[in-house]
Amino acid sequence: MTRKVRIAFEGCCHSELDKIYNSIRKLEIPIDLLIIGGDFQAVRNYRDLKCMAVPEKYLRLGDFADYYSGKKLAPVLTIFVGGNHEASNYLWELYHGGWVAPNIYYAGAANVLDFAGIRIGLVSGTWSEAHYNWGHHERVPYYRGAERSAYHIRQYDIQRLYNANSSTTSKPVDIMVSHDWPQGIEKYGDLNALLTRKPFFKADIDNEDLGSPPNMLLLRHLKPQYWISAHLHVKYTAIYKHDTEISEAAPGFQETRFLALDKCLPRRQFLQVLEFQTSLESDLFSLKYDPDWLAVIRATNSNMPLDRDTKSLYSTPEERNKVVASIADEREWIEKNLCSMDKLYIPLNFELTAPIADHSDAKNIRNLPSPLAYNNNQTAAFCKLLQIENKIFRPDLSES
Ligand SMILES: [Fe+2]
Repeated sequence: MTRKVRIAFEGCCHSELDKIYNSIRKLEIPIDLLIIGGDFQAVRNYRDLKCMAVPEKYLRLGDFADYYSGKKLAPVLTIFVGGNHEASNYLWELYHGGWVAPNIYYAGAANVLDFAGIRIGLVSGTWSEAHYNWGHHERVPYYRGAERSAYHIRQYDIQRLYNANSSTTSKPVDIMVSHDWPQGIEKYGDLNALLTRKPFFKADIDNEDLGSPPNMLLLRHLKPQYWISAHLHVKYTAIYKHDTEISEAAPGFQETRFLALDKCLPRRQFLQVLEFQTSLESDLFSLKYDPDWLAVIRATNSNMPLDRDTKSLYSTPEERNKVVASIADEREWIEKNLCSMDKLYIPLNFELTAPIADHSDAKNIRNLPSPLAYNNNQTAAFCKLLQIENKIFRPDLSES
């Protein structure tokens, strides 16, 4: 017996959750999971706006605050990656992933999740060469451009995802989700049609500057069946055929189908539903941790860089081999301590951290103080589950 699983994808959110959920309702077919490609804007209150990089005219609370406060409930299980317009202070609380509101799960900086037996890899943020080698040093209050650098992807997180298939028992990643496109992917689709709609992409395409080089590295290595992105506000499809002659050990698909979607506006192509088959019979699928990914976290957490100037997880093949060997050891720990104890279900442990919005703040955003740092209960529980150090909340570096 197999069952159909329907996953809906949406491009950039820009805090239009009400419109997106209305569009899902209008589909009139049951959707098991919604994945949003970033610029989600999980702004809980007006102080969170101090940590979001947007022009001042766009500084508004948005739909999310009602989902955070409990006034509204997401009608479908929703997962999202971070983009370049985010309440980066809140997303940092949930660096390893977690519920930003009931039924809405932030992927974290990088993640691999299991939904109904489908392996979903996720990477947050956008590419900036200048900040790629930085550690995660940004803490509130943000100053000197931290509200921008906070959302730039880091080599540490890319190197961890690169090794998500290191275990000999790893299944290939079925779907990868990123905010910006893999660099050069546009060449594997109808490029002329894209340039007709977006002529100003031409200079970047000619300079091989469109998209993220680390995303393309991951696409070539992990060989997922689908790669879904947002960011450039246009629907686009491409097919990347993998060179099976190259003796890459990682499991994967022969070709990767790329799909980029637009943002949620009238007459835009912002939503697409993909159907998968699963052997699981449940009508109520839950989100689960991916054991191979948990092994990667156990193997690499102690090297997580928290300073600006840092060194990569590995820089030579020998150093990478050591990391891979350590992931294999940790995979055994995960099997013994979590898999065999049925502890892979992601707990429904959302709790408020920052206060809900006080609308009297709306007139005075410019003069509000920076938000405080919060010790998120979900991150604490996750670190306890994996028996790793909680490096996210550092009372020594926060004002609260
Ligand atoms: Fe974006």
